Amino acid sequence: MKFTAAILTSVLAASALVSAAPLERRAKTKMMSKTTRLDASGAIYFITNEPDENMIIAASINADGTLNLDRAVAAGGRGAHGKADGPDALFSQGAIKANKKGKVLATVNAGSNTVSLFSIDPNTPTNINQIGDVASSEGEFPMSLAFNSDGSRLCVLNGGAVNGVICYNVDKKTGLNVIPNTLRPLGLNQTTPATGPAGTASQIIFSEDDKQLIASVKGIPPTPGFLAVWDVGSDGSLSPDFKKISPAKDGVLPFSMTIIPGKDAILATDAGLGFDIFDFKDSNKSSAVKIDGQVATCWSSRSQKTGNFYLTDIGTATVTEVHVDDDLKGSIVQQYPQLPGSATIDNDIATVRGQDFLYVLAPNATAVDVLLLDSPGSAKKISSLDISGPTKAAGITINPNNLQGMTTFSK
Ligand SMILES: *[C@@H]1O[C@H](CO)[C@@H](O)[C@H](O)[C@H]1NC(C)=O
Ligand SMILES: *[C@@H]1O[C@H](CO)[C@@H](O)[C@H](O)[C@H]1NC(C)=O
Ligand SMILES: *[C@@H]1O[C@H](CO)[C@@H](O)[C@H](O)[C@H]1NC(C)=O
Repeated sequence: MKFTAAILTSVLAASALVSAAPLERRAKTKMMSKTTRLDASGAIYFITNEPDENMIIAASINADGTLNLDRAVAAGGRGAHGKADGPDALFSQGAIKANKKGKVLATVNAGSNTVSLFSIDPNTPTNINQIGDVASSEGEFPMSLAFNSDGSRLCVLNGGAVNGVICYNVDKKTGLNVIPNTLRPLGLNQTTPATGPAGTASQIIFSEDDKQLIASVKGIPPTPGFLAVWDVGSDGSLSPDFKKISPAKDGVLPFSMTIIPGKDAILATDAGLGFDIFDFKDSNKSSAVKIDGQVATCWSSRSQKTGNFYLTDIGTATVTEVHVDDDLKGSIVQQYPQLPGSATIDNDIATVRGQDFLYVLAPNATAVDVLLLDSPGSAKKISSLDISGPTKAAGITINPNNLQGMTTFSK
């Protein structure tokens, strides 16, 4: 009798295990293209961020900068949507990040409180393979990631009820290993999932010299947000406390951060007015600059080719090109309206055969817009990649309100 019960219990346990099979054991990759693009010049990556299962979508970059959707790869966890309606579920930039030197890619799984690491095959960059186990983000609602310059370290920003940062060593065989003395709280009064966009964490980046780790936090108007700056030790550890840097007068909602090279300064989009310039050397040169008619300017990247910054606004579906001069004075160069209502969010730039291309996720149009950045002030939209048809054909669930992230890798 006892024996039978034991068998029954183990059978039940076994079937429970089957139905609760970990995500790792499900089909990992779905192909959306029959051909392997050995001639690809690079790739772009973003995430479905679906609550049932987060998938990484990878598209190869052709020689002319246009895109081909190649594959979707299980990210090893679940996505999440913050407490707010519409696209930009994570209120962040940097939910997925590629690193060229390390040939690695990492994504958050905001609904599982984990981070996953992948290797990038440099010959076929949409071919990515998970390295090691998913790592705990040691917090809740992870929403942004930063690699140091050579891709040997990775830090994650948690934006939920348990918020703050933690960093890992990147090991090509074992994956992500926590670096001691890097678990640092931000002290935000938040929920899981986060309630926003006001009052949420936004992005995490390393300074240009890798000696500081910086997280941006949006304010709750009229109280302005701030940048949290930790010093990074030679062993990768972080200073116990962060230095809090406020935006210049009128700045309220620091969102994405893009380094201004050689200046010890950052351009941060500001959803409340346009963009903020943070000068770490001489705060008197910091400024908050208005973009007339803007609704929520939240994402940014910089082109090496034009030397300018490209900012996207979810509300106006417009790309704004900004020049920052030697004195850190920022000015608007040109604006490029995209499809109205397409909700342009995350963007990144790739250099392909000496030309720069801007890739903009437009979730409401289930598309990625491609703009050629030939010279300052003359960005040209050259194509728009449809992501709804191929994902549907391959049986991949996408939802405009959940799609997030944009990162590029080029050969
Ligand atoms: C945290 O936020 C909640 C909701 O807005 C508020 O009721 C509570 O007073 C806040 N707690 C602190 C310590 O500020
Ligand atoms: C910044 O401005 C204040 C007053 O306008 C001045 O006293 C201070 O010396 C300036 N700081 C620097 C570093 O220039
Ligand atoms: C996205 O599309 C929905 C449905 O058409 C629309 O109601 C919403 O305003 C759009 N959002 C943005 C930010 O354009």
